[in-house]
Amino acid sequence: MKKARVAVFISGTGSNMLALIEAARTPDCPYEVVCVLSNKPDAPGLSHARALGVEAIAVDQTPFGKNREAHERAIHAELGIRNIAWIALAGYMRLLTPWFVGQWQGRLINIHPSLLPKYPGLDTHRRALEAGDTKTGCTVHHVVAEMDAGPIIDQARVPVLEDDTPEALAARVLEAEHALYPAALARAILTATR
Ligand code: GAR
Repeated sequence: MKKARVAVFISGTGSNMLALIEAARTPDCPYEVVCVLSNKPDAPGLSHARALGVEAIAVDQTPFGKNREAHERAIHAELGIRNIAWIALAGYMRLLTPWFVGQWQGRLINIHPSLLPKYPGLDTHRRALEAGDTKTGCTVHHVVAEMDAGPIIDQARVPVLEDDTPEALAARVLEAEHALYPAALARAILTATR
C-alpha cells in the first residue's frame, strides 16, 4: 500500500500532531506524516516533531501582514515541493482563505473541540458549560471556506461532569481528540481513494 503523504499544520503545542505521527508509524496506517508546518516560528510543536524525526517548518505569517493569501501561496509552494497529498489541521489557529481551501478541498481536514455544528470558533468548553450541556466532544471534518463548517467525518462524545471547569473539560476532550483524529484521517483517506 502506498501511504498518502500528509502535512500537519499547527500553531501551538501539537499534541494532536504527535498522535497523528505516532499512528502513522503503524504498518497498516494509510498515511505518513511527511512534514509539520506552522504559521508561528515559536510553536512548541515544531521541536516536538523534529525530536521524532519529522521535518518541521515555519512559514511565518508576520512578513505577509494582512495578506493571508500571499502567506498561503508560500505555504502551498512548500507543500508542492514535498509532494503533499493531504493536510491535517491540528490546532492551526488561522482562518484559511477561499483560495487555499479551493486548492485543497476534499484533502484538507480539521479537528475542532466541540460537537459541531455546536460552538464553532473559540472558547468551546466554556460555552458548553455555560449552556448546561451534559455532553460535549470533538469533531473531525472536511474544511470549507466557512469556519468550522464542512462535512463531518467523525465525532467523539465526552460527558460533562458536575463541577467541571473549562480547563478540566478541555483536557478530557483533548484525550478524546488524540484517539479520534488518527482514525478519522485514515477513514477520510480510505474513503477518497476507494
Ligand atoms: C485542540 O483542542 C484542537 O481541537 C483545537 O486546538 C487544540 C490544539 O491542541 N483546535 C481548534 O480550536 C480549531 N478550531 P494541540 O496543539 O495540543 O493539538
